[in-house]
Amino acid sequence: MARRKKIYEGKAKILYEGPEPGTIVQYFKDDATAFNAQKKDVIEGKGVLNNRLSEFFMTGLNTIGVPTHFIKRLNMREQLVRAAEIIPLEIIVRNFAAGSLSKRLGIEEGTPLPRPIVEYCYKDDKLGDPLVTEEHIAAFGWASQQDMDDIVALALRVNDYLSGLMYGVGIRLVDFKIEIGRVYDGDFQRLIVADEISPDSMRLWDMESGQKLDKDVFRQDLGNLTDAYTEVARRLGVMPKTATHAPKPKLIN
Ligand code: C5P
Repeated sequence: MARRKKIYEGKAKILYEGPEPGTIVQYFKDDATAFNAQKKDVIEGKGVLNNRLSEFFMTGLNTIGVPTHFIKRLNMREQLVRAAEIIPLEIIVRNFAAGSLSKRLGIEEGTPLPRPIVEYCYKDDKLGDPLVTEEHIAAFGWASQQDMDDIVALALRVNDYLSGLMYGVGIRLVDFKIEIGRVYDGDFQRLIVADEISPDSMRLWDMESGQKLDKDVFRQDLGNLTDAYTEVARRLGVMPKTATHAPKPKLIN
């Protein structure tokens, strides 16, 4: 069998050339990194969970008319996605204060924000993904004003969708990060949600207990990360209990 061509290897995923032009196979690794890869570990099962969860969120978004790169899941660790030109920005949406916002502005973690706040970081590991403003984005040509309007609209729709979904299963969506890509249909350019949507790039707190169910479990050594992600998947019905703990067959006389 011919060897697949690796296009890119990141901290949590590998991208391979897809079977058709304009497609990519996205492989989810078990590697976990935090603090710009200063903390690293291999968390067994994380890649499988994130592949499933990202499929679930992206499929839901496609269904409600928010375009994403997701085409189909191929197996436990891989999904087929549409190739897109990634805009070099991390789009962060926040509903409650936490993480770097709390630190930067001295706002207590968990404080509800007056409205969702959209922030941009320039994607550059060497620089530690610094926060940038629309001024930097326009001046350096990373995205046009029209792109920015579309990006904010997409990010807020993703926020409404994910917040509602999580609320339904007793989880507060504190914040999340998405990446946006450009695709071309003939002469027209469209923006789509790309990369992944998973607990690696969200903050998810149990509404009753406040228990963290996201990558902060790894960042802050709060317990087993796979257990936290499995709980999110279980509540969303993504990996029903029956799949792993199926009852034994009964003998019928
Ligand atoms: O660290 P900070 O508070 O800025 O993170 C905001 C949100 O964006 C968190 O949900 C975090 O997991 C996500 N994020 C990410 N990748 C980064 C930076 C932040 O997924 N490089």
